[in-house]
Amino acid sequence: MNILMVCLGNICRSPIAEGVLQHLVAKNGLDWTVDSAGTSGYHNGALPDERSIAVAKNYGIDLTPQRSRKFITDDFKRFDHIFVMDTSNYQNVIRLAKSQKQKDKVKLLLNEVNPGGNQSVPDPYYEGGFEGVYKMIEAACKAVVAKSKSPIKV
Ligand code: 4NP
Repeated sequence: MNILMVCLGNICRSPIAEGVLQHLVAKNGLDWTVDSAGTSGYHNGALPDERSIAVAKNYGIDLTPQRSRKFITDDFKRFDHIFVMDTSNYQNVIRLAKSQKQKDKVKLLLNEVNPGGNQSVPDPYYEGGFEGVYKMIEAACKAVVAKSKSPIKV
């Protein structure tokens, strides 16, 4: 299975989501590809935000191999599931879809823990709150893995 995590800048939220899901995938012996991208391209080639790097490091996850990149339409073909962090990312990605099949791949990440809740992972770039963001993302990533495998190793 191929999974893409998407936010606006691909430096704060989706790098955490990529790192956490990759960690869970490895622990659970799954053969999945996990990547992340941003809808904006503002930070192309940049390392994750230092605050994301720090919070993930506290949980034993290294985000420093990651570099920001922009979401491209080819991602609809490469990935089975495209998890977006907020409703704005959702609109931005859905706008680029060329078929219903592509639209169906796009889901709000927090709907994995609260189906139909349509909640967003808040953008911490200006407001902070990286610890809370990490916890929300971690719970959702555990739910993604739990759907495919039971019991999961956490
Ligand atoms: P992210 O956070 O979408 O979680 O990576 C942001 C990063 C950068 C900006 C906005 C949000 N920005 O406006 O540069």
